[in-house]
Amino acid sequence: MIIDRFGRPLRSLRISVTDRCNMRCRYCMPEEKYTWLPRGSILSFEELDRLAGIFLGLGVDKLRLTGGEPLLRADLPVLVARLAARAGLQDLALTTNGILLAPQAEALRRAGLRRVTISLDTLRPERMLAFARSPGHADVLAGIRAAREAGFTGTKLNAVVIRGYNDDELVDLVEFARQEGAEMRFIEYMDVGGANQWTGGAVVSRREMLARLAAHYGGPAEPLADNAGSWAPAERFRLPDGTVVGIIASTTEPFCRTCDRARLTADGHFLLCLYADTGLDLRPPLRDGASDAEIAALLRAAWQAREDRGAEQRAHAPDRGALYQLATLRADPRKEMHTRGG
Ligand code: GTP
Ligand code: 5AD
Ligand code: SF4
Repeated sequence: MIIDRFGRPLRSLRISVTDRCNMRCRYCMPEEKYTWLPRGSILSFEELDRLAGIFLGLGVDKLRLTGGEPLLRADLPVLVARLAARAGLQDLALTTNGILLAPQAEALRRAGLRRVTISLDTLRPERMLAFARSPGHADVLAGIRAAREAGFTGTKLNAVVIRGYNDDELVDLVEFARQEGAEMRFIEYMDVGGANQWTGGAVVSRREMLARLAAHYGGPAEPLADNAGSWAPAERFRLPDGTVVGIIASTTEPFCRTCDRARLTADGHFLLCLYADTGLDLRPPLRDGASDAEIAALLRAAWQAREDRGAEQRAHAPDRGALYQLATLRADPRKEMHTRGG
């Protein structure tokens, strides 16, 4: 296992398989036009699988496939099957917006995917149309159902909570997730990458979310004992009726001290932090004949020098607004949240 400057191990890798997305959530992709990564730069399944193997050799045991929208990548179950066959893997998960999930859920499960997390910000189709420019709400619900029918357990539903958009749906979402056999997770709105319309006023804090849930359920949500010592971004709570919900307080209570996550963009940039300015381009060594040992040495050196704690630093930024202005994002699409996998 390798450790960074703050004693954090490298254990989890989020692999973005495409920067494309079929939704335009305002907190992530609010613009009309985007600069996409050039097609020829996108890593092949062979390259991704090889890199995954090198990361596993360094102590990573948890892989998550992300995007953009990962199900836009053709034949994703083929990649899943390759990764699932690797020794030493404890977890293999997928974060998806769910639109394309229903027709693929079974194939993904058969290929060896262990868990899915589906984004669901609202139960109202007209809100999704206005907020994410997508008419696919029914497809998302079908995807959630299909995941269950395909036999996935431990499914999570993620909602980014935004004041004035969906903060009146917390209870409805909790109830919906329970009916679907999934765990609801609320995420504080972050000022990352593409969130160039971010304002502090739009953030609903974990404290406020808990207060609203307590008011409805007639008592406080109790933190679960297993939060202590957990390296997961979400803190989990039990509501008075027994339902468990997760809250990811990346904005008001950053968890950088327990961050064991690295990211790989679809074109092979290795990122040490969601907020990292730039990453280590692995494409040249990968395509110019470097050995696994040589690539492993690059990764090890990068992680051992890691001092990133982006969310904590942002929390102390004076006059906090969006992290980037549009021109900066246009000049470097790898700064976008949809390119670095959420
Ligand atoms: P599990 O705990 O394995 O279910 O996964 P996860 O919570 O890491 O994955 P998911 O893709 O569901 O992440 C949920 C959200 O948490 C992301 O969309 C981000 O908003 C936030 N998040 C995930 N990882 C990080 C991180 O390293 N730093 C920060 N600040 N936020 C993160
Ligand atoms: N704040 C919080 N979460 C975000 N995501 C994207 N943009 C933001 C943001 N500005 C998350 C969404 C989605 C995941 C892929 O990335 O929750 O579930
Ligand atoms: Fe990890 Fe960076 Fe997120 Fe902090 S901001 S939790 S260091 S990825």
